[in-house]
Formats: sequence, C-alpha cells, structure tokens
Amino acid sequence: MDTSIAYWTRTGHSRKIAEHIGNTLKLPVHNLREGPPPRGHLVLVSGIYAGKSDPKMLNALQALTPDTTPRLTLVITCASPDARDLDLRKALASQGLAVDEKEHVCPGGFLFIRFTRPNQRDLDAAAAFVKEAIKQA
Ligand SMILES: Cc1cc2nc3c(=O)[nH]c(=O)nc-3n(C[C@H](O)[C@H](O)[C@H](O)COP(=O)(O)O)c2cc1C
Repeated sequence: MDTSIAYWTRTGHSRKIAEHIGNTLKLPVHNLREGPPPRGHLVLVSGIYAGKSDPKMLNALQALTPDTTPRLTLVITCASPDARDLDLRKALASQGLAVDEKEHVCPGGFLFIRFTRPNQRDLDAAAAFVKEAIKQA
C-alpha cells in the first residue's frame, strides 16, 4: 500500500516534521488545507491547541473513508510531553477509519515552553518512527 504524509499546521511545526519525514523516506507530502490527501496509508502530522486538534482539520478529515484511507498513523506535535488527543482518535474511529494504536509525539515549542523544538533529533525520531510503522504494515 502506498504511504503519504499529510499535515495540518498553525505555526509551521507539522509542516517541518512532515517535510522531514517525506524527504527522509522519499514519500509524498500533502497539506490538508489544500484538499483531500492521496489514497492509501496516511501518516497524519498535526498539533494540539488548548488540548485539542484544530476543529477545521477534523472537518477536512471527514473526506476520508476506509476506502480512500485504509490505514492511518498519527504523529502529534505539542509542547507538553504527554498531551494526547483522544477526540481525534474518536472522530477517526467514528468514520470507520483504522488508526495504528502506536503514535508518535514530537515536541513542538509554544511561547517559552520548549521553544527550540522540534530540533534535528526530534525530526529524525519522527522519521524513524514512521519508517518502523511502514515496515509493520
Ligand atoms: C494556540 C495554541 C494553543 C496550544 N495549546 C497547547 C496545548 O494545549 N497543549 C500542548 O501540549 N501544546 C499546545 N500548543 C503547542 C502546539 O501544540 C505545538 O507548538 C505544536 O508543535 C504546534 O504545531 P503546528 O506548528 O503544526 O501548528 C499550543 C499552541 C498554540 C499556537
């Protein structure tokens, strides 16, 4: 199954992470604000804002079906080391989409909290996670 990387960003981190993964693994990278992503396994890179995903992204993701997107892998970027978005998983599950249980959290600075992240090591770790996830298909 073909894999592509899709991102939704407010401050640029998700784009940076997605582009690094795409360049490292030679995979196409898609900005979800420009329309639905390519069919196939989708790696979704997105941030957390006030504890949630951007509602506009959830809206855009409604275009996905189990037919267009048989598998999703999540890469979340946030300032807190343990922030998660269970609502994102719930929304995707309610569409019948299969989401890998294992997800990757990439540090992404906000104001003075971890403002130097993601750094090169964070970007490399995100690419290594996706490489492993693809192997486990
Ligand atoms: C308005 C706003 C609210 C945020 N709220 C949270 C939050 O609740 N928890 C958290 O861990 N990070 C929070 N962050 C930090 C972002 O999740 C983090 O910087 C992420 O890397 C941003 O991704 P992006 O640049 O792709 O939009 C917030 C950032 C912004 C701009």
